Amino acid sequence: MKLTDTLAELLKKVKKDIFDVKEYNALMSLEFRILGRKGELAAFVKRIPDIPLDERPQAGQQLNAVKKELEQLFTDKKKVLGLGKKTGTAFDVTLPGTQQPRGHLHLVTAAITEFEALFSQLGFNRRRYPEVEWDYYAFEALNMPKDHPARDEWETFFMSEKPIGDMGRMVLTPHTSSGQVREMKKRSADGQPTRMINISKCYRRQIDISHVPMFHQIEGLAVDKEITMTQLIGVVEYFVKNFFGQDRKVRFRPFHFMFTEPSFEIDVSCGLCAGKGCSYCKDGWCEIAGAGMTHPNVLKAGGYDPDVYSGFAFGFGVERAYTMKSNMNIGDIRQLYSNDIRFLEQF
Ligand code: DAH
Repeated sequence: MKLTDTLAELLKKVKKDIFDVKEYNALMSLEFRILGRKGELAAFVKRIPDIPLDERPQAGQQLNAVKKELEQLFTDKKKVLGLGKKTGTAFDVTLPGTQQPRGHLHLVTAAITEFEALFSQLGFNRRRYPEVEWDYYAFEALNMPKDHPARDEWETFFMSEKPIGDMGRMVLTPHTSSGQVREMKKRSADGQPTRMINISKCYRRQIDISHVPMFHQIEGLAVDKEITMTQLIGVVEYFVKNFFGQDRKVRFRPFHFMFTEPSFEIDVSCGLCAGKGCSYCKDGWCEIAGAGMTHPNVLKAGGYDPDVYSGFAFGFGVERAYTMKSNMNIGDIRQLYSNDIRFLEQF
């Protein structure tokens, strides 16, 4: 048999061996046996002087080509077996991969996204106003003069000890209502009406089963020439039915806020006991919001003439509203911020 034919046969055989070999060490011995200094390929080189002179160049070329091809095959296979070396088994690229764990939005972020979508259907645009706010916007512009006892409701974190100019002290805003006059000023300057929601963090000195010191509120405000209470009721009912479910009822309870007149607290029938009364709600109703018709002094502070313009406003607690969704069953609001993955994974 001619040398070139035997060489072709060797290549075929070694290719198969490389394909079949399953262990890294076995591959290394095979490589040594074929490509080593005294290996099978070297034996061929030694035979070259025996072949006719005119056939030598071709045989030499073929030898080089085979050597190159085998070296490449060994290198590739080493990479494959090398990956599985630790376990001693080959890395099987056809095996399904490891599923990466997938998270989801935090409940509060999910709630905010849902609020934003619902209110945008009614034409309320989302705005953002400062969380570190002047006393003026948090209280005074909202018809709460300095030293008025109504301020006591909002146990506030003050950021500066002394007032700074006319704006008073800086506070961590205790409610999103502080965005109302900022928004009005901006819109009234251009003679425009207002329809906004402001979802933001708020801060109060309180912590118990239904309160956390840092929480979120969503504020709604509409100011225009013919804003009525019927519209306020309509907007709140639309929100409640779409957010909590068609079976939940809404109740407006007269209340007092300095920045609205008349003012209300809004209750939703309890989702746990369907309004019958239980240990969570006591009488079948859960309070979710404050609301009312914008006080003339607030309209004035915002640059609107109260004889021409009227407005309504409401403020919901985001966490409170979310924990009251029918399928939630979250007993303690503080769990939302416990950062316990076992709790969060349930939703
Ligand atoms: N800011 C109030 C609070 O934090 C809630 C509120 C009451 C907002 C009446 C309003 C409103 O816009 O009209 O308790």
